[in-house]
Amino acid sequence: MNAVTNVGCVTRPILPRSCPPSRNLRKSSKMNIRLAKPEDLPHIQAANLQNLPENYSMKFWMYHILSWPQISFVAEDNKGRIVGYVLARVDAEEEDDTGTRKDFDKEPEIHGHVNSISVLRSYRRLGLARKLMLLSQEAMSTIYKSSFVSLHVRKSNKAAISLYRDSLGFRVDKVEHKYYGDGEDALSMRLDLPKQSI
Ligand SMILES: CC(C)(COP(=O)(O)OP(=O)(O)OC[C@H]1O[C@@H](n2cnc3c(N)ncnc32)[C@H](O)[C@@H]1OP(=O)(O)O)[C@@H](O)C(=O)NCCC(=O)NCCS
Repeated sequence: MNAVTNVGCVTRPILPRSCPPSRNLRKSSKMNIRLAKPEDLPHIQAANLQNLPENYSMKFWMYHILSWPQISFVAEDNKGRIVGYVLARVDAEEEDDTGTRKDFDKEPEIHGHVNSISVLRSYRRLGLARKLMLLSQEAMSTIYKSSFVSLHVRKSNKAAISLYRDSLGFRVDKVEHKYYGDGEDALSMRLDLPKQSI
């Protein structure tokens, strides 16, 4: 048998006329990604509870959206239901945990930090997380002049590590032992952002 005849329609980059679009292609074409708004927060929080063991208070979510309104995004389906989000903040490298500058001679290095990202299970592998990350990274760079973006990920989270490392180009900066409440190590990952001329 000629092996070429076994090539499935779904995996082809360009679909032949006789081949119906895959479910994923149909789904992804109806998705909309936009900036997150305070009124989205209950839905973002619900998605977070469904997808991740790291959960936060409404105050935490609200603080991020109000403080850095241009770097958190949501993905919504054709009925406007939120199916994914990225929540991020901006930090200054030279500050310690209390927000105090460590070295007054040096300009603080501004950087973005991704606090939480998730996509509902039935909307995964459509490229939504990658798009959410790219939009947030672009805004961190162009609006806040961030020089890099950082995040933490569980050592066992293969899907997220592949998203950050293989799809977006992050590298592992360090391993933080027992970072998570249950004792799991975190990979602290980082991606340099393009320098913006002022
Ligand atoms: C991790 C997560 C956000 C990825 O969302 P997604 O929308 O499915 O990701 P995308 O479709 O944008 O995938 C982009 C790339 O990431 C990688 N990736 C995503 N899911 C993957 C999986 N299950 N296995 C391996 N690689 C995966 C692939 O490189 C993929 O590119 P490809 O589809 O061309 O191969 C999603 O699985 C999720 O919500 N998981 C639970 C919450 C979570 O772990 N959040 C991260 C906390 S640090």
